[in-house]
Amino acid sequence: MAQDAIEFQYDGQPVRLPLVRGTEDETAVDIRRLRAETGLITLDPGYANTGACQSAITFINGEQGILRYRGYPIEQLAQGSTFLAVAWLLIYGELPSSEELERFEREVTRHTMLHEDFHHFFDAMPKSAHPMPVCAAAVSALTTFYDEPTTDDEIAKSIVRLIAKMPTIAAYSFKHSIGQPTMYPRNDLGYASNFLHMMFATPCERYEVDETVARTLDLLLILHADHEQNCSTSTVRMVGSSLANLYACISAGISALWGSLHGGANQKVIEMLERIAAEDGSADAFLRRAKDKDDTARLMGFGHRVYKSYDPRATILKSACHDVLDRIGGSSQLLDIARRLEEVALSDDYFIERKLYPNVDFYSGLIYQALGIPVDMFTVLFAMGRLPGWIAQWLEMRRDPDFRINRPRQVYQGPRERPLPAS
Ligand code: SDX
Repeated sequence: MAQDAIEFQYDGQPVRLPLVRGTEDETAVDIRRLRAETGLITLDPGYANTGACQSAITFINGEQGILRYRGYPIEQLAQGSTFLAVAWLLIYGELPSSEELERFEREVTRHTMLHEDFHHFFDAMPKSAHPMPVCAAAVSALTTFYDEPTTDDEIAKSIVRLIAKMPTIAAYSFKHSIGQPTMYPRNDLGYASNFLHMMFATPCERYEVDETVARTLDLLLILHADHEQNCSTSTVRMVGSSLANLYACISAGISALWGSLHGGANQKVIEMLERIAAEDGSADAFLRRAKDKDDTARLMGFGHRVYKSYDPRATILKSACHDVLDRIGGSSQLLDIARRLEEVALSDDYFIERKLYPNVDFYSGLIYQALGIPVDMFTVLFAMGRLPGWIAQWLEMRRDPDFRINRPRQVYQGPRERPLPAS
């Protein structure tokens, strides 16, 4: 009989707390009664050991390098599904029937346009602005165009709107930054192809979508679609727990993702590789710096809070990298440097002892670059991919029987009570 509680002594009293066991046998101590029974709270900076919720969306086993969306292995979804089918799976819990997928694709296609007033929004942004804050602001601005979704039908419509309009917002933020006119979406193109069209077509020249590029982009979106309670998803849940509306929650998620320790790492990886190439191309010299505590250099795209073995997404992307560079060209010099960095790091005690392996960001930037995506847009594409995951997690949180506003506690270390000096 599996143990169903833990017991300990505190202040001379026995304390018994129940255990919660997941379907993959992850086990947690349920501390909901801890403070009421003992006056104690827990302390866990960075929440490395703290479960914020019970979820049925994504399963990760960091020690074995396992990632599954609703039970389906990421390797099989990457090989045999499409981004919109995976988005439906994450949000609604099951793979769509052919009728459901056809209807979802049609609805997404028909909601890709933005309200014409959005052009004034983009025009107000400085051209030098990084597209991530522009996208975060634009998604939040959707709140001003559409009513707060409350019924299931309204929420379903908002989900379609967000998934449909995110590529348009992303492409418009890019076009604005290079001073080119925005390109309207086309209803005759698939999701990834439409984004590429809006990014690279101009009124003077049609953009012929390369099927390999479109399929590779769809694969990248699938691989980024969800990752359980990461920083940006936890942000979406935190903001959503106050009953802020879906657009505001997604906007907060975009802002959290931008951080260089999180989704911003894919851009930092390319900048790191280009810096190594520009200096002396020595991966070994850079790794010495990355291990030096007195040096700010970090091996970007390496290490992970959960994966203590190879990130399965990095495995898929490393293989895709070779295919894409072989088929459509791209910087083999940067790929050679990346592979050398990986080879040396994976045999170096510093990285081995700390179980630091390539994560999703290590190879993704090389592929984005080979697809012609500008480096400032890498994290925007991460956000486009993660959008269905954020939505699915937000929906699960709102429907959670344990739903309540998130309000962590603290251990106060400030001054004890003291009188205000007499004036
Ligand atoms: C993503 O959570 C998710 O699921 C995120 C994500 C998703 O899909 O949502 O997977 C996407 O964000 C991937 C991670 C992208 N970030 C990077 O590649 C940035 C580089 N990596 C690190 O900064 C770091 O590894 C983190 C942020 C990813 C994880 O940080 P942790 O878990 O807080 O680990 P840590 O910083 O405490 O590091 C433990 C040790 C430290 O050394 P010691 O103090 O023990 O001596 O490992 C060292 C760190 O200095 N270390 C690194 C390193 N990463 C960790 N040293 C050199 N280079 C690195 N990349």
